Amino acid sequence: VNDSPVRVGLLGCGTVGSALLALLERQHDAISARTGLDIIVTKVAVRDLSRSRGLELPVDLFTDDAAAVVGDPDIDLIVEVMGGIDPARDLVRAALAGGKPVVTANKALLADHGAELFAAADSAGVDLLFEAAVAGGIPFIRPLRESLLGEPVRRVMGIMNGTTTSILTKMTEAGADYSEALAEAQALGYAEADPTADVGGFDAAAKIAIVASIAFGAEVTASMVDVEGITAVSADDIAFASRNGFVIKLLAVAERADVDGAEQLSAAVHPVLVPAHHPLASVRESFNAVFVEGDAVGELMFYGRGAGGDPTASAVLGDLIDAAVNLRRGAHASIGALAVAVLRPPAEASSAHYLSLVAVDRPGVLAAIASVLGDNSISIASMSQSAADSELGGALAADEARIDFVTHRTGRRNLEATLDVLRSLESVRRVGSVIRVLSEEEDER
Ligand code: NAP
Ligand code: HSE
Repeated sequence: VNDSPVRVGLLGCGTVGSALLALLERQHDAISARTGLDIIVTKVAVRDLSRSRGLELPVDLFTDDAAAVVGDPDIDLIVEVMGGIDPARDLVRAALAGGKPVVTANKALLADHGAELFAAADSAGVDLLFEAAVAGGIPFIRPLRESLLGEPVRRVMGIMNGTTTSILTKMTEAGADYSEALAEAQALGYAEADPTADVGGFDAAAKIAIVASIAFGAEVTASMVDVEGITAVSADDIAFASRNGFVIKLLAVAERADVDGAEQLSAAVHPVLVPAHHPLASVRESFNAVFVEGDAVGELMFYGRGAGGDPTASAVLGDLIDAAVNLRRGAHASIGALAVAVLRPPAEASSAHYLSLVAVDRPGVLAAIASVLGDNSISIASMSQSAADSELGGALAADEARIDFVTHRTGRRNLEATLDVLRSLESVRRVGSVIRVLSEEEDER
């Protein structure tokens, strides 16, 4: 029996790191009573030693030399919550090479360098755990990598970014301005250091790349994800959605399909019009939700807080305890070997779509547009027209009308070609928003 303390080096003490320190202090004795482990943080690396962290801790706990923490022979285990690729990648590599288990919340790092780091952890025979990297406080990675290891997963679809969910909620429910809603998400600790990662869809892309790699056992990196963020979603799109029984959400989707007898994978992040009755429509504020569809298990849904210090610290602490227990037992978890992913080109994807056009308001224009759609085999599910003096006509000239279509399922390549034809019509002033719709057809595939 080894009853000496498990000494932890913490890299980063921002939103997540400081919440982890507070949670560990609160739970230390309970963890010790249940596991017999005395887990203590003996060093904390930060960038700016002069910054106040709202914690009552000895000054000599802190250092600005993260490499020295990793190399310290008196530290058993590393928790990386500093974020970014450099120097996090080198620090995690060095820790694993030195035989130290690593717990990280860093999805950007794992989405780009996961395969290399998982292999390094395996060859060192230690843990590399990352529950907090996907969907914050929701225990989702462990069920995916353990409980669902044998499941033929078909699709994983989720709202995986708290910042954008919170922004879209504020814009939809309170008519908030985009920048004001983003500033609030930043103040609440949801956003990445560079919030472009959130609003541009890259944070969700990193998460779905990690999820796809585990769910399908093939290496999917962030650069393989087809990404579109929420920056182009307008107040008019939100108003259209509300009036027509939809809510706009940023969805991340990873899918496995059989194409002519060969397996193809796809991973994408897009704003989507979700029907108001769909369970994903009720995901608000910083909450996340993840659906898993498998051939044997059917449908599963995971729900909880996807961002913020405390929920994320909860996930990190669970991993930390797991890694400490494994370290004492000389055991470790493994992702296993990842195959090379065969990807479906994004142009081959298909979905129902919402299209918003501005056209000249005169007889025959609507029929001309509808016939272009029909000629290109795009079937219209619903259509509405707004004149310049109507509620949705704010940005229109007096001779313009806004025409909004929802289509049935159509291939993306065909849709893009059709939009080019529409743009070339003299009567079409501009093609505005083109947003995917999560339709019943989607569920029936
Ligand atoms: P944060 O508030 O910006 O904190 C980052 C911390 O890392 C700060 O304490 C910073 O030091 C330190 N740091 C950064 N670069 C460093 C370097 N080169 N050397 C030493 N220390 C360095 O970030 P966060 O929100 O806690 O996020 C941390 C990680 O968790 C990221 O990977 C993020 O994607 C992930 N995550 C965050 C959330 C969330 O809701 N916030 C949820 C899930 C996952 P200073 O304080 O001195 O600047
Ligand atoms: N910036 C991320 C989000 C943090 O908003 O979801 C959680 O990963």
